[in-house]
Amino acid sequence: MVRGRALGQQIQELLHCQVLDTLTTQSEEKLMPLSAPPPAVPGAVPLLGHSMALLRRPFPFLASLPDFGDVVRVRLGLKDAYVVCTAELTRQVLADDRTFDKGGPLYEKAAEIFGSSLATCPHAAHRRQRRLIQPAFHASQLPLYGAAVVDQIDNVIDTWRSGQPCDVLADMTTIASRSLMAAMFTDLEQDTLEQMRSDFRIMASDMQRRVLIPPLLNRLSVRSNRRYWQAKARLDNEVRRLINNRRTDAVEHADLFSMLLTARDPDGTSGDDTDHLSTTELINQVLTFFYTGIESTSATLAWAMHLLATHPPVQGALHDEVNKVLAGSPATYDDLPRLPLTEKIIAEASRMYPTGYFATRVTTRAARLADYPIPEGATVIYSPYLLHHQHSVHADPERFDPERWNGATAPFGPHGTLFSFGAGPRKCIADTLALTETALVLASIASRWHLDPAPGTHVRPALGITLVPHGLRLIPQLRKVEVMERHSHK
Ligand code: HEM
Repeated sequence: MVRGRALGQQIQELLHCQVLDTLTTQSEEKLMPLSAPPPAVPGAVPLLGHSMALLRRPFPFLASLPDFGDVVRVRLGLKDAYVVCTAELTRQVLADDRTFDKGGPLYEKAAEIFGSSLATCPHAAHRRQRRLIQPAFHASQLPLYGAAVVDQIDNVIDTWRSGQPCDVLADMTTIASRSLMAAMFTDLEQDTLEQMRSDFRIMASDMQRRVLIPPLLNRLSVRSNRRYWQAKARLDNEVRRLINNRRTDAVEHADLFSMLLTARDPDGTSGDDTDHLSTTELINQVLTFFYTGIESTSATLAWAMHLLATHPPVQGALHDEVNKVLAGSPATYDDLPRLPLTEKIIAEASRMYPTGYFATRVTTRAARLADYPIPEGATVIYSPYLLHHQHSVHADPERFDPERWNGATAPFGPHGTLFSFGAGPRKCIADTLALTETALVLASIASRWHLDPAPGTHVRPALGITLVPHGLRLIPQLRKVEVMERHSHK
């Protein structure tokens, strides 16, 4: 009960909602005719509103909201938030980031930690940052990053022993973090990379607590805060050292960091803006990439492996695909066009378990959604989980069916119905990189291993900022694959 109340307050803080008692202010009356607010979802209890429902059964609660309307009002604590419940309205919100800007305490706290970075900055600062950073994620860079991933897969899965349960989420986190750091900095020595990984783990594991508790507590000199500050300072210093080295050495590096360092924006010289990323901006971006990139990638892979282990026919079909294309070898970037089922499995896993299961926006002016008035300063929530589990968006949504993505263009699917990477101008900048990486890892594992669920385990989504599988343990069995000459695609 105590735990429940605390989390109820945390959710309320997290979502930072606006009390809906000033809908008919003078300025709005000028802008739009008086009309009723969106329907309120029943079941709000005094003081907590719907926080307990979100806490106790978040996924059935989110999935139930479309029953009450296309836009609904939920109460989180004493405040209201507006949830968009159709794919079309979600696209409308995500397309118009001038009106529905990034905001809410989650982003505000993230900005305290990472500074103003691509993921946290408001609309006014976004376009310049995106123009500077986008080229680093261009498709032409993917073979390079793909190679960094391939190097890291074997180091981890070679430690597996046939028949012995393994903590798949931890292993996927190791692969995702080593891959991203290696793609970012090709000149990192192994021990520096491991130190950065360890510091990043400390920071990431503390993130959720720091986002949810009042700022004052984050400033107290207690052991957990000191550990966090030291890890963050070491990471900042290491990235600063790497920047300085790069600025002075004449060697060209083919990596993501080099793309950020040399990026120039011809439109970025107006006002206080410069045409390049400053040292502080570079540090902020690198830490943001670690935070946004590692957990979501590893959780998506872990969910995909859980789904394969619990759906033997799909795992069998995947083995057929990788047998033909990889013949027992790990996958490379060039193999991907011939691994369509692998990509569909990733898309379907991210549909069923979108790791960013909800996000918030804050209205910068009075707006309308489906003819309902939404006041300025209101919190608007979109939820990929809610949309992905709706019958009207995806037929038989609770069924794991990778074939539903037949003919879809990655990563948005037919008619843009996959919201796992968001949409619009704030869509994940690394969606194709993430799809490339996850497909390479999944195919390489399937090429050599069969996965079974460990008996007695109960997998469930853990409620946090990212949707991760809690309690997942799988038993890998080494497959007997006849290693043939690999299919040539030249
Ligand atoms: C399977 C893996 C991933 C998933 C499911 C994912 C999901 C998302 C989602 C849903 C958003 C939009 C959030 C919103 O609308 O508020 C987003 C944004 C973002 N993601 Fe990812 N992401 C993944 C991997 C990565 C990786 C590997 C990186 C970096 C290397 C990354 C960097 C970012 C950044 C910088 C943004 C902010 C973009 C902007 O506002 O312009 N993500 N991601």
